[in-house]
Amino acid sequence: MGRTANTTGILFLLLFFMAFFTTIIYLFSRSFRSEAPGEPIEELAVPFWKTNIILQVYPRSLYDAITDGTGDLVAVSVVMDVRLKRSLSDSHRKTAKRKKQPWWQREIIYQIYPRSFLDVKGKGTGGLKGITSKVDYLRDLGVGVVWLSPIYASPMKDFGYDISNFTAIDPIFGNMEEFEELVTTFHQYGLKVVMDFVPNHSSDQHEWFVKSVKQEDPYTDYYIWANSKGTDDSGSPIPPNNWLSVFRGSAWEWNEERGQFYYHQFLAEQPDLNFRSQAVKEEMKTVLKFWLEKGVDGFRVDAILHLFEVEDLSLDEPEVPGSENPEDYASLDHIYTTDLPETLNVLQEWRHLLDQYPDKLLMVEVYTDKIDVLMKYYGNETIPLADFPFNFLLIERLKDRSQLTGEYLRDAVGLWLDNLPDGKWASWVLGNHDVGRVSSRVGEDLVDALNMLNLLLPGTPVTYYGEEIGMQNTFISWEDTQDPLGCRWGPEHYQEYSRDPARTPMQWDNSNFAGFSDASETWLPVNPNYKTVNVAAQIMAQASHLKVYQELAVLRKDEVFLKGNVTFPIITEDIFSFLRFLDNSNWYLVVINTSQRSVEANLLQDSIQELPHKATVVLRSTSDTSESTQPGLEVPLDKLPLTSGEGMVLLLPPGN
Ligand code: GLC
Repeated sequence: MGRTANTTGILFLLLFFMAFFTTIIYLFSRSFRSEAPGEPIEELAVPFWKTNIILQVYPRSLYDAITDGTGDLVAVSVVMDVRLKRSLSDSHRKTAKRKKQPWWQREIIYQIYPRSFLDVKGKGTGGLKGITSKVDYLRDLGVGVVWLSPIYASPMKDFGYDISNFTAIDPIFGNMEEFEELVTTFHQYGLKVVMDFVPNHSSDQHEWFVKSVKQEDPYTDYYIWANSKGTDDSGSPIPPNNWLSVFRGSAWEWNEERGQFYYHQFLAEQPDLNFRSQAVKEEMKTVLKFWLEKGVDGFRVDAILHLFEVEDLSLDEPEVPGSENPEDYASLDHIYTTDLPETLNVLQEWRHLLDQYPDKLLMVEVYTDKIDVLMKYYGNETIPLADFPFNFLLIERLKDRSQLTGEYLRDAVGLWLDNLPDGKWASWVLGNHDVGRVSSRVGEDLVDALNMLNLLLPGTPVTYYGEEIGMQNTFISWEDTQDPLGCRWGPEHYQEYSRDPARTPMQWDNSNFAGFSDASETWLPVNPNYKTVNVAAQIMAQASHLKVYQELAVLRKDEVFLKGNVTFPIITEDIFSFLRFLDNSNWYLVVINTSQRSVEANLLQDSIQELPHKATVVLRSTSDTSESTQPGLEVPLDKLPLTSGEGMVLLLPPGN
């Protein structure tokens, strides 16, 4: 009897351990699978024992549930059970998500700076009708979402980012009817329309501000008002603290009529709204609803980091050691004026509001290099916030060519992907209306390669108008300078700060003013290179940046780019590369020569991953005219010729 009991016990134990180890291995195989940024999870056909960690459990010491001083099986099952439940709920979540990928993950976002896209009214400044008339171009380009920089009523001190009526169209751009026509037309073409939403400040011409100055309720506290700290030697009032404007100089402006200072994070003509006022919060929600009812598909939230300041206005911000210019925004550490925790609560309310409408996109402008701050703006599974904060790492890190190497690019790309919260989605941005054009920052030779990176990495690409044809910065004389930021630095330094060079008219063809306008002058000069750098010429050319872009946009529709995994097999000083792969799909290797000379790369020698000896060229940079790398041809991966700054998309043979 005793022996039978013993044998049964031993058998039971053996069976139990077998089941236990199998389960542990299975569970760990779920947790440690290959890198998959964002939502898609597809497994590679690699044996589980190659890719997983085996956990050895010593049952006596794992966990003592019966409290007799020795670990036991009950405890082992408890531990397994918890892990199993977690894993099942994980897998459920992932399956649920896999069902339908949101449109904003599948499409390319194209940013239009409306003043500069197309003027069909002969005013020298672009407008809504011009944009609508280019719907064919946008569709043929392959973009799916158009984000419009502000078109609201504005005195144009900051070219539309100073809004005097959040629910009206500025006559410079057109009228509400033309806006509605734009939305209808774009929707008919399957294009989405995203608006700029500028909640942090209004114009000083806004009715709210005018009434706030007069202390008319409910507007009295719509802005941030503070008493002076006294007067200086010349009798001028002293601001309450040392806070600085992003645009340089004190962030406080004295208002004689109210006898108080008001706070402005940007221009004095852009007073900051007071988000501690419930009424202000409600006003801004009403604005969002207004545009949602007009059928817009989402918003880009401007300057969200600046939404709140601490309540105690006597606090000075600490100085950054070594900063030379005390007027310069960078000379202070903005601990009291940026990224306050209250901001996320307001963002959550906006998210909630947008979610009352089907399928809306919420993206936020968070200008910081602190990766943990950036990631907060995604929210999490329980409190989702923005669909994504713009990823400005490629702007920040690609200020010029001097540091560009394969390793450097890998770091920049990895920083975002490696920190992405579970289930969240990346974005990629090469330029916008606030920085110099990427082609001028790093070199024209890299235009196609960077578009390859932007469009083929996992995440949503954002393209600034003109990037598809490689538009470059335009020299603007001091006399022609319009940007208030440039103007504030004076004739000596304006070129370091002015944003005008990247805001010049879109180059459509080689006719007068690049086909942008029939007027006798345009609001900013056209880049003299328009004779050769223009849409019409690039459509006619055998190979062009525009054609590469169009082909990339088509290629990006392949599920491997929308849902596949990514690895970085070859990273050297000269080479940046990434591999996109997915079961039952084509696998693509994108290779970029970051150097300024031609190279013959031995990808096989430098790869950390096994690669085939040959691959087929799908797409290459315009600069590469070699017979041997024509699209459709097979090329040897141990001797791959690449011109300076060239990018190449290669299709790996099936079975890899
Ligand atoms: C954002 C905009 C910028 C504007 C500023 C103030 O950073 O991108 O163009 O000047 O906000 O609204």
